[in-house]
Amino acid sequence: MTTTVSKPSHYFIELEDQFGAHNYHPIPAVLEKGEGIFLWDVEGKKYFDFLSAYSAVNQGHCHPRIVKALVDQASKLTLTSRAFHNNLLGEYEKYITSYFGFDKVLPMNTGVEGGETAIKLARRWGYTVKGIPENLAHIVFVEGNFWGRTMAAISSSNDPSSYAGFGPFMPGFSLIPYNSLEAIEAAFKANPNIAAFMFEPIQGEAGVVVPHEGYLKGVRDLCTKYNVLMIADEVQTGLGRTGKLLACDYENVKPDLLILGKALSGGILPVSAVLGSNEVMLTIKPGEHGSTYGGNPLACAVAMEALQVLVDENLSENAEAMGIIFRERMAQLMQKSELVTLVRGKGLLNAIVIKPFGNGKTAYDVCLMLKGNGLLAKQTHGDIIRFAPPLVINEEQIHEACDIIEKTILSLVP
Ligand SMILES: Cc1ncc(COP(=O)(O)O)c(C=O)c1O
Repeated sequence: MTTTVSKPSHYFIELEDQFGAHNYHPIPAVLEKGEGIFLWDVEGKKYFDFLSAYSAVNQGHCHPRIVKALVDQASKLTLTSRAFHNNLLGEYEKYITSYFGFDKVLPMNTGVEGGETAIKLARRWGYTVKGIPENLAHIVFVEGNFWGRTMAAISSSNDPSSYAGFGPFMPGFSLIPYNSLEAIEAAFKANPNIAAFMFEPIQGEAGVVVPHEGYLKGVRDLCTKYNVLMIADEVQTGLGRTGKLLACDYENVKPDLLILGKALSGGILPVSAVLGSNEVMLTIKPGEHGSTYGGNPLACAVAMEALQVLVDENLSENAEAMGIIFRERMAQLMQKSELVTLVRGKGLLNAIVIKPFGNGKTAYDVCLMLKGNGLLAKQTHGDIIRFAPPLVINEEQIHEACDIIEKTILSLVP
C-alpha cells in the first residue's frame, strides 16, 4: 500500500491534475482533517471553514454524534437495496415526515437526484391529477437557478458554463426572471399545462440572491390559484442555514414538494430527500422510480442523527444570531473599503460583492489571500464571495473570522 503521509500540498494537487478530470478549479488547499468549524491542510495549517462544503456541513465537521451513528450502523448493516425492507427505512421515513410536517418522503442520495425526483413527481401528478395531455407537462424555473449538473438540471439553466456544449436539452422547461411575481403569473396564465414551479427560496450558487419580502408567500398563492405544484429546492438553504429550519419558514409557507440534501447527513455521506403529500407522492408506483442506495440503512441512521443535532444544538437560532453579527461586521467593512460593494444574505448564508481591483484581479484572488490568512471561502461568478461557515460557530469565532476578512480586504489596493 502506498502511504500519503507527510507529502506536501503540491504533490496531491499534481496527482489530481494528472489523473482526475479537470471539471473543478479548487482553491489550492489540500485538506486532511476537519473538526467543527475548522479544517487543517496537509502542512498542518488551520483554517476557518467558511464554505461548509457548499452548506453540507451545517452541523460542523465530523460531528461526534453523527460519526457515531455512522460507525454504529456501518458495523451492522449498510445496504440492502430496496429489493427488501430494512429496519431503519420506515423509522427514518416516520421521523423525517413528522419533523417537516409532510405525508411522505422519497429518499435519494444527491441533491440533483432530489431535483430530478421532484420533477418526475410533478410531471406524473400533472398527467394523472391535473389532467395535462400526454407529454405536454411543463415546468417553470427561474433565471439564475442552480440545482446540479444532470441533463435535466442544465436544461433549466441560463448559465452557459453549465449548459453550453451539452445539448440537446430536456424539453418542457422554461425560464422566467427570479423575484418577480408578475412573471410567474404571466407564465401561469399563458400555459394551462404547467405542472410545477421550481425555485430556491434564496439562490445560493447565483451569489446568495435574496428575494423581496412577500415573494415566497406570493409564489405559494399563485401556485395554489393556478393549480401548479410549488417545488422548493432547499438543498442549500434548508436545515438551519438561513437562520430558520427552512428558508420558506420566513414567510410561513409550505411548498407542495420540498427538496433536501447536503446537510441532511451533516456532510457525512450523500443523502437527499423529497417530501410531499400523499396526493403527489402516490402517483409514482412500484418500479417507476428509485435508486440502489436511496433509503439505505446507513443513510437513514446518519440523517436521523444529523436532523436531531440541528434541534438539540439550536443551530437555526445560532445561525440567525451569528448571521446578524456577520452582516453587521461586513457592513462596517463596506464603510472602510470601496472594494466591497454589497453585503447580503440571511442567517449564515451570506455573500459580499467585490469590485475588480489591481489590474483585473477578482474574487478568486481574494479567496487565495483569505486562505493565506487562515480562512477558506469560495468565489462564485467572479465577483462574489459566499461566506457560509458551519452553524456551530460561536460569537468569539465569528468575530475572529471577520477580523481575518477585514484584514485581508483592507490590505488590497483598489
Ligand atoms: C440549491 C441546490 N440544489 C441542488 C444542488 C445539487 O446538489 P448535489 O451537488 O448534491 O447534487 C445544489 C448544489 O450546490 C444546490 O445548491
